[in-house]
Amino acid sequence: TTDQYLAHTRVVVTAGGTRERLDPVRYLTNDSSGKMGTALANAAAAAGAEVTLVTAAHQVTLPGVTVVPVTTAKDMNTAVQARFAETDIVIMAAAVADFRPSETANHKLKKTGDQGLALNLVQNPDILATLGTQRTHQFVAGFAAETDKLLVNAEAKLARKHVDMLIANQVGKGQGFNQDDNAVTLLQPGQPPVSLPRAAKLVLAQQILRYIQEARA
Ligand code: C5P
Repeated sequence: TTDQYLAHTRVVVTAGGTRERLDPVRYLTNDSSGKMGTALANAAAAAGAEVTLVTAAHQVTLPGVTVVPVTTAKDMNTAVQARFAETDIVIMAAAVADFRPSETANHKLKKTGDQGLALNLVQNPDILATLGTQRTHQFVAGFAAETDKLLVNAEAKLARKHVDMLIANQVGKGQGFNQDDNAVTLLQPGQPPVSLPRAAKLVLAQQILRYIQEARA
C-alpha cells in the first residue's frame, strides 16, 4: 500500500473546463480535459486524504474520491466556497472560464439574415484569487497554463492571487491540455522554482502533493 501521508487531510481539487451557456444548445468552453485535476484527486486519495473533486469534466476516479459535478464557473465557485472552511488543501486545476455570456437565451439563437452576432460577455468570479484572500489554515494552490513567457506570467499570478503555490505549465504545441503527460514548474513565494520534468499526470500529481505536504509541515 502507498504511504498514507495525507491521512486525516481534507483535500478539494477542481478539474475540467467550465461551460458557460449561451442558449439551450450552445455554450462557451475550453480545451481542458480534467485529466490533471483527476490525477491529483486520485493521487491524494491513494495517499489517504479525504478528497472532493469539483469537476466540469468526466474522468475516472478512484473509490474514496467524492465527485461533485458542476457546469459553470459560478457553480464551481459555490461548490468550493461551501467546503472551504473544512478543507486543508485546495488545488484549483480547473480551467475556469474568465467570461460568461451576460445572458443565457431561453430559445436557440437564430440567424438574422446575413448579419453577424455580437456576444456580450461579463467577467466570472476569480475563484482562486478569492480563496487567496480568505485562506487561514488552508494551503491554496493554483495552476497557470501559459502559451508564452511561462515563468514571468506565473510569478505574476502567484503574487496577484495571493496563493501558497502556483503550478506553471506550458500549453499549446501539443502540450498540456488533453494529454496524458505534462511538465510543470512549482512556484512558491520566496523560494526558487522547482521544475518537474515531463511525466505521466498521475506521477506528477504524486510529486506535487509531496511538495505541498512538505510546504505545510
Ligand atoms: O485563468 P488563469 O490563468 O488566471 O488561471 C490561474 C488559476 O486561477 C487556475 O488555478 C484557475 O483554476 C484559477 N481561476 C479561478 N477562477 C477564474 C479563473 C482562473 O479560480 N475565474
